[in-house]
Order: sequence, then C-alpha cells, then structure tokens
Amino acid sequence: MVISPKVRGFICTTAHPDGCREHVRRQIGYVKQKGAFESPKKVLVVGCSSGFGLATRIAAAFGGGAATLGVMFEKPASEKRTATAGYYNTAAFEAEAAEAGLYAKTINGDAFSPAVKEEAIRLIKEDLGQVDMVVYSLAAPRRTMPDGTVYTSVLKTVGEPFTNKNLDLRTGEITQVTIPPAAPEEVEATVKVMGGEDWMDWMTALSAAGVLAKGAVTVAYSYIGPSLTYPIYYQGSIGMAKNHLFKTSQEITKQFADDGIKAYISVNKALVTQSSAAIPIVPLYISILYKVMKEKGLHEGCIEQMDRLFREKLSGSPVVDEEGRIRLDDYELREDVQAAVMEAWDNISSENIAQYTDLEGYWEDFYRIFGFKFDNVDYTRDIPLV
Ligand code: NAI
Repeated sequence: MVISPKVRGFICTTAHPDGCREHVRRQIGYVKQKGAFESPKKVLVVGCSSGFGLATRIAAAFGGGAATLGVMFEKPASEKRTATAGYYNTAAFEAEAAEAGLYAKTINGDAFSPAVKEEAIRLIKEDLGQVDMVVYSLAAPRRTMPDGTVYTSVLKTVGEPFTNKNLDLRTGEITQVTIPPAAPEEVEATVKVMGGEDWMDWMTALSAAGVLAKGAVTVAYSYIGPSLTYPIYYQGSIGMAKNHLFKTSQEITKQFADDGIKAYISVNKALVTQSSAAIPIVPLYISILYKVMKEKGLHEGCIEQMDRLFREKLSGSPVVDEEGRIRLDDYELREDVQAAVMEAWDNISSENIAQYTDLEGYWEDFYRIFGFKFDNVDYTRDIPLV
C-alpha cells in the first residue's frame, strides 16, 4: 500500500514506517553529533514510543550508552490499517539500538495495569538486574483500574469558563473558543489519569521487587506555560493533575530516602505532540511560540530538550529551581520571548496569521510525528502492511 497522511481534526490516522524510522534516525543523529555524556546506564521509560518519552530513550541510549526498557501502548498494523506511529518508532529504535550494540526491549501494554508492571520487573530481573533511572512520560486519555473502573481525563478549566482565541486546525482560521469548567468528578478523574498515583505505584512495585538501584533517579514531565494559558493548562484540570504529579515527586523522594532515590519533575517546553495537539488554545500558542523562538534562535524540539535534560540538568547534581523542579521551559518563559508572543497574540486574526505564526513549522512537526514530510523518504513506495 502507498501510505499517505489521513488527518482527522487533531490526529492523523495513518503512519509511515519509513518516515518514522527517519524521524528516529534524525533524533539519534542529533544526539550523536553532540557527543557522549554521563548518564544512568539502565533506564526504564514508561511512555517510550513518541514525544518526550521517545526522545528521552534516544538520548539515554545514544548519548549515555544506556540499556533501555520501554513501555508503550501502541497498535501493530493490520491488513487494512497502518500501525500507530509509536509502534513504528519503537521498531526503528530497537533496530538502531541493536546495530549499535545497545540493549533495548519494549513492552506493549497498559502501563497502568499490574500485569505490565510485573512484566517489566521480570524483564529487569532477567536482563538488567536493576534500573538506575525511571522515566515516567505517559500521556494517556484514560486509566482502567484493576477493578474495571475507567477514569477519563478532560481538558477543561477549573471554576469559570474561559474564552479566548483559538486556531481551528481544520480551516486554519482564528476563532473564539469557550472552554467549560470541569465538574469536580472530572477533575478527580483527570488527576487519577495524569497525576502521580500510577508513578508512585510503579516506584513502589519496582522497589518491592528489588529492581531499583540505590541512588536511582526518576523523572516525570510537566508543563507550566505563560499566564495566557493558565486557565486551560496550569490552573485547569490537567494542571491539577500536574500539581499532584509534583507532590508525588516529593513523596517518592521521601518514601525511598533510605535507598537514596530522588524524584524530579522536569517542566518541559510546549511542543507539537499527539497529546498537545488535542488541547484547545495551545496549538495557536505553540505556532506563535515557534515563530518567536525560531527567530531568536532558541527553538528546540523533543530531542533537543531531552538531550539538554541529560547534558545540562542531570549530569552531576541536578539543576533545579527554588521548588526543586528541573526547568527545560527556561527559554520558552524568557521575558523577551513571552513579550513577543503576547504582542502577537493580541494582534493576531485570520487575516494576518502568516505574519504572526509559524503555521508551516507547526504542521511540519505534526506530520513528522506520523512519519510524513521527510524530504528523503520515498512516499510513493508500495509498502506491505503486514
Ligand atoms: P505523546 O502522546 O507523544 O506520548 C505518550 C506516550 O505514552 C506514548 O509512548 C504512548 O504509547 C504512551 N502511553 C499512553 N497511554 C499509555 C498506557 N495506558 N500504557 C502505556 N503507555 C501509554 O505525549 P508527550 O507530549 O510526549 O507527553 C509525555 C509527557 O510530557 C506527558 O506527561 C505530558 O503532559 C508532558 N509534557 C508535554 C508537553 C507538550 O507540549 N507536548 C510539554 C510539557 C510536558
């Protein structure tokens, strides 16, 4: 089958295996060209197949020489459908790792489930003995509990509705959107899915099984952003979950202090990923941000961010802010960057969108997540799906 992109709203329902491989290779190339760094050597990445998790895995393996065990929730190809991008990314990563003589195995299943945690523990025991780093990079829409209860996360405000400009990804026009407040149960469900409870469950299970090395480090990812997006992000339902994630980092450090385990939140930059494209208002903010940061030579993608995490923030004693958080959003939140973004935000309309946004860059990143728009990939190739 000749695979082309099929975009529906903010997702693409097809993915290209050659393009995904190229995406992974370019990220590996970036890290290798910057040279090796000191990092943990046995790394578990929960949410390893796309976005920040995949970039972390690539950086740990190809910059730090780490053996990596990944956990993902992806679909293989069927006779009619391509696999998901994360599936192809992971196949490509494993092939590249094997070629480089690096251990890489991946569990495809629900990270929230006890069965997947047990499988990870089994593999660590068998192959690695212990892990010295756990990366928690899940972005999930829902969580199924062992008793069958399903919690679904929502992207809503807390308290008041919030109206602001929005980029309609289908028409490319600037519209107004009103985001309704979440009901208390919805906030609670979002915290269940995207908060720290499952991160703590992972750490507890790994520790109880004796597969966490003394002095191991664990990192989960968060976002703060500018005050403009506070109502929908930082102070919204997802922000409540991220706040819980932050508190969990402090609890993990306290609970496993005897083993010298340290948990960190890394506050990352806003980037186009499968998850962020789904958040109202954020795609418009991102496309303005891209333009400003590219003009200032400050733009980074997932791999640049995760490379910097290891190289600058985690080598030696971690570089943290006054609350103990790693800040990879330092460039994004720089005063001059935000001043330029706010000016654009105030002036933007459907008529002048090209002047104020890097829509092309937004869409390029979007398509590349699914393996499209690489100039050196032959998209006319007939590819057997299974
Ligand atoms: P993504 O959608 O690219 O990746 C999510 C990963 O989670 C994939 O590997 C997927 O397979 C895995 N996953 C989802 N549900 C799963 C399940 N039930 N079991 C096992 N694996 C599962 O997301 P992205 O954007 O890289 O997000 C990762 C983290 O980074 C999230 O915590 C997100 O909030 C955070 N973050 C994202 C930012 C952004 O702008 N995209 C900015 C700052 C933080």
